[in-house]
Amino acid sequence: MKTHIITYGCQMNEYDTHLVKSELASIGAEFVDTVTDADFVLVNTCAVRGKPVEKVRTLLGELRKEKGKRNLMVGMMGCLAQLEEGQQIARKFEVDVLLGPGALTEIGRALEAKNRFWDLSFREELTHHLPPAPQGALSAFVSIIRGCNHHCTYCIVPTTRGPEVSRHPDLILRELQALKDVGVVEVTLLGQNVNSYGNDQEGFPKFGELLRKIGEIGLPRVKFTTSHPVNFTDDVVAAMAETPQVCGYIHLPVQSGSNRVLRRMAREYRREWYLDRIRAIREAMPEVVLSTDIIVGFPGETEEDFQETLSLYDEVGYDSAYMFIYSPRPGTPSYKHFQDLPREVKVERLQRLIERQKEWSFKRNGRWVGKTVEVLVRGVAKDEQYAEGHSRGNHPVLVPASQARHPGLYQVEIKQATPHMLLGEVAGATEAATIPLLMA
Ligand code: 5AD
Ligand code: SF4
Repeated sequence: MKTHIITYGCQMNEYDTHLVKSELASIGAEFVDTVTDADFVLVNTCAVRGKPVEKVRTLLGELRKEKGKRNLMVGMMGCLAQLEEGQQIARKFEVDVLLGPGALTEIGRALEAKNRFWDLSFREELTHHLPPAPQGALSAFVSIIRGCNHHCTYCIVPTTRGPEVSRHPDLILRELQALKDVGVVEVTLLGQNVNSYGNDQEGFPKFGELLRKIGEIGLPRVKFTTSHPVNFTDDVVAAMAETPQVCGYIHLPVQSGSNRVLRRMAREYRREWYLDRIRAIREAMPEVVLSTDIIVGFPGETEEDFQETLSLYDEVGYDSAYMFIYSPRPGTPSYKHFQDLPREVKVERLQRLIERQKEWSFKRNGRWVGKTVEVLVRGVAKDEQYAEGHSRGNHPVLVPASQARHPGLYQVEIKQATPHMLLGEVAGATEAATIPLLMA
């Protein structure tokens, strides 16, 4: 079976693609790079906002046309597959295989089935999985917890991915050790809410404790995402500060700076709580790099509410931010109960927020000029004069390609900063990390 997989959405989806790929490889699938070469096209979908849903709809429309011309199987997985909205789309475009995010391990059975195979169940074995370590990769994702127990009124994810289920710590540690053994230098621990790791299982370590255990493996770089402010405990802060392998980078979505909006979003914390977490984080790690997610134009958001978001942005002084226009998602409480704001209002606020973010990113990135940072170089940049990579603080970094001919870890002296990236010169390589790749 020649298979081509197309992935939309977040890092969790990328990880799930990796899981499904390893399942498919174990039953002899061959992977191809284009739809034209494939007899099975699998689309890993996202449902978090309207835009990714539209992309999937367009793609499945094209795939149905292709199906009319030749023997082609089409599969759909990911968050959209779990929703009635997605299943309607799947019916319309004659999707053969449909697996919800909890049913990935059924892919083998799905392909053996003669007829249409749809499965929306949540299989426990998914969290017992130990995917093979990718060969030749320098960075990798590792899922530590699936699902989400929060109920933010705008969010479809609790519906699509179900409640929190933590993976067994032994399995996580084994996976990390295996990654280290094949030369991986950076891992990102994944979950919709990594900080609630262990809360659902008797006897599992809490997230802070898990971080300390992971530190002992000795991978050079450990990152994690995403965090919920409510679960960002003092112990998590302490564990980060005490574990040198853990990078000084935190993505802590705030969503809004207005308490009125936070309440309507059911975010469970208030502005003051959030700022106190930032204070604790900065006290323990003064150099920490901070990013966030913000939704602008949530139903009922007034100009005053939006000003509160801008002022919180200034108070924190984020290094970067992912900013979204509120997108009403069928099936969420805010879709049911609140009236969407006019598009012009939302777009105009987004533009103002982007301006604010650029000013701050420029200012924050400027602090690194003259300092030496560790950069994980991935390869040649679009502009081939440069090699590109990222710092421990997740800044994109460019260096002259002639100075970093191989992927790996380098010490880079930062010469210049823009709102979007840092530019530097290689001051040296972190040897242990470059060697495995040179041999690969
Ligand atoms: N509209 C806009 N943005 C959303 N997000 C989640 N749901 C919505 C929605 N309905 C954003 C949040 C979350 C990020 C992954 O996506 O900011 O943190
Ligand atoms: Fe998309 Fe959110 Fe699901 Fe990730 S978790 S695939 S971003 S809907």
